Amino acid sequence: MPVETWRWQKVEDESRWVFAAYNFLEIRTPVLEHTDLFARSVGVDTDIVTKEMYTFQDRDNDLLTLRPEATASVVRAYIEHSLYNEGGVHKLYYMGPMFRRERPQKGRYRQFSQIGAEVLGSDHPAIDAEVLEMLVLLLERLGLKDFALLINSVGCPACRHEYLKKLGQALDNVKGNMCEDCRRRAGTNPLRVFDCKVEADQPIIEKLPHILDYLCPECLQHFESVKAELGQREIKFAIEPRLVRGLDYYTRTTFEITSGALGAQNALLGGGRYDGLSEMLGGPPTPGFGFAIGEDRLVLAVEQAAHFKPEPIAAFIVWMSHEALLPAVTLARELRRQNMSAEILYDAMKMKKSMGLASKFNARFAIIIGENELASGRYQVKDMGTGQQEEVEISRVAAYLSDALKKL
Ligand code: HAM
Repeated sequence: MPVETWRWQKVEDESRWVFAAYNFLEIRTPVLEHTDLFARSVGVDTDIVTKEMYTFQDRDNDLLTLRPEATASVVRAYIEHSLYNEGGVHKLYYMGPMFRRERPQKGRYRQFSQIGAEVLGSDHPAIDAEVLEMLVLLLERLGLKDFALLINSVGCPACRHEYLKKLGQALDNVKGNMCEDCRRRAGTNPLRVFDCKVEADQPIIEKLPHILDYLCPECLQHFESVKAELGQREIKFAIEPRLVRGLDYYTRTTFEITSGALGAQNALLGGGRYDGLSEMLGGPPTPGFGFAIGEDRLVLAVEQAAHFKPEPIAAFIVWMSHEALLPAVTLARELRRQNMSAEILYDAMKMKKSMGLASKFNARFAIIIGENELASGRYQVKDMGTGQQEEVEISRVAAYLSDALKKL
C-alpha cells in the first residue's frame, strides 16, 4: 500500500546509493529458473529444497521453480554470460521477490523481497570485511542501531570432511532422541542438523562438536584475517560457532545480522562465502562472497527505529473561480516541468476545504488563484509551514518557489 511503499523506496534508494559508493552494478535475473539449479546449489537436503520451493512442470515437461533466493541465479548468469572472461572482480547487486513456502508469520512470508549483493572473483578476506563494512554503513544510514553481527567459518570441503566424520559419530549417539528430520539429516547431510528449530533438540545440538575446532590451517588463517580486517574497520562482531546457514553452498565465512527491533524472525540478513559454487554449476573456479537482506524485515526494523517521512509535494494549487482554472493548470504544468511536484484538483471547492487538502497532501506551499489575483497579476503563495503568505508576480511564481524550496 502507498503508506508503506515510500518506506520501501527509501530503503531501496539508500541501498542503491551505498552499492554505488562501493562500485556494485545491478543485475536482474529471472524469477523462474530450472529446479535443478537450486537442487545443485542450495542443496537437496536443505529445508528450502525439500519443503519450501514452489515448483511446477511446464508444458514441455521442464521442471521450473519460483526462485527461493538469487545467489544461484547470479552465479548461473555469470557462467552463462562468461563474465569470467573479463577477469577481475565482479560486484553485482539485486533486489526483488523470492518465494518460499514457509509458515507465514510477522517477518516471514511466502513471497518476500531481498536486497542482495555478490562479489565474484576474489577469495581475499578483505572482500568479506569490506562487504560487512558496507552493510553496517547501510544500516546506519537507515537509522538502525540495535543490530548484531554474528560470524563463523564453515571451512572448505577438505576440513569439512574431517569434521563431518566427527559430527556423524557424535550424532550416532544422540540422534535417537532427535526429531525425524534430524535423524534423516544425520545420515544424509549432518551439517543441516544445525538448521533444526525443534525446541527439544536444541540442548542436544548445543553439545555437538563445532566446525571451528576442525578448520584446516588455510581456512583458520582466512578466518583470522577476516576478524583482523573487521577489527581494523571498527566493526563489532560476535563469533557464533553454530552458524552454518541453511544453504549447502557456503565455504569459510558465514554471517548473519540480527535486529533487536524484530520479533521471532530477527535475522535481518545473512550471507557468506561460496568459493566452490561456480564449479558446482559447471563454471570455472570462481570464489564468491555475498549476502541477502530480507527487505520486508528491514522495512519493519526501519519503521521501529527511524522516523522517515514521505517526500512532501512542493505546491498545492488552489483555484477559486472558473476563470482561474486554466491559469492554475498552466502553473501546475510549468512547476512540474521545472522539477517541482504539484497537485491540482478539478472539482470546485471552498477555500477552507482546499487548504485542508493542502495540509493532507503535506504540501510545502499553497498557491491561491482567484479573481483578485487574476486582476492584480499576482498570485498568493502561502508557506504551509509558517503560515506566511506573500503576493508574487505570476511570471515569477516558479522561480520564487524554486528558491524558497532550496532554503527549506
Ligand atoms: P537466507 O538466509 O536464506 O540467505 O535469506 C536471507 C534473508 O532473507 C534472511 O536473513 C531473511 O531476512 C530473509 N528471508 C528469508 N526467508 C524469508 C521469508 N520467508 N520471509 C521474509 N524474509 C525472509 C540467502 O537467501 C542467500 N542467498 C544469501 C546469500 C547471498 N549468501 C551469499 N550471497
